[in-house]
Amino acid sequence: MEIPVTALTAPSLEPLSATLKRETAAAHTEAETSRFMAQLASGALNRAAVVNLTVQYWHIYRALEAAVMRTADNPGVAAIADPRLVRLPALEQDLRAMAGADWQDFLLPTPATYEYARRLDALTPADWPEIIAHHYVRYLGDISGGQVLARAFPSHYGMTPEELHFYDFSAIGKIPPYRNAYRAKLDALPTGGGQRERLIAAAQHAFQLNQNVFESLALATLR
Ligand code: HEM
Repeated sequence: MEIPVTALTAPSLEPLSATLKRETAAAHTEAETSRFMAQLASGALNRAAVVNLTVQYWHIYRALEAAVMRTADNPGVAAIADPRLVRLPALEQDLRAMAGADWQDFLLPTPATYEYARRLDALTPADWPEIIAHHYVRYLGDISGGQVLARAFPSHYGMTPEELHFYDFSAIGKIPPYRNAYRAKLDALPTGGGQRERLIAAAQHAFQLNQNVFESLALATLR
């Protein structure tokens, strides 16, 4: 019996979750060490910076969660969507606690946030790899580095638990097993026909959109 040459030479495809992590590692370092994030995490900024970041998140999650909802019929989106991750109600609670009953008067997006939300608003079910990429970049970041920030905010800026529901993912249980299960779902996605490459490129773009938001906040808040 003849064995096809490709069966002997074709490298086995790396799991998508591993490729995603590797291909966005540089962008992650850039985001983590961006002036705004680094200063925010080290306590060099102030309460107003946290409030402004929360305002930007309100716009981003409004658009992200609407995109996930309107494309939930797609099996890939359905696989990773999880109502326990939904952040918009938590953001509204936090903003109310931070700014009072008229919190909606403070919802000014920076131009970069506006662009990010506009991109999310334009996504249709045919863009499912991009929606999953955006989902990955935000929620996996929130349950990872976001937790580091949430632990620092009370001592650095006097934030109270009533202002930090956004970072509270207790509904999903322990984070490491959740993250592993999420990666397994990514690895099971049907990503032939160029969808894998599309998803990876979209994750890199999503990091860039976040980076642009941090830069816009740096202009607004840095000392
Ligand atoms: C102070 C800022 C940050 C810190 C300290 C931080 C820290 C971390 C750490 C320690 C992990 C690894 C978790 C693990 O695998 O055990 C992680 C993962 C991740 N972070 Fe961040 N991060 C920060 C900012 C960000 C930002 C701004 C984003 C995106 C907007 C982001 C997106 C992600 C993503 C998507 C992962 C998952 C990588 C993967 O396992 O595939 N992070 N972060």
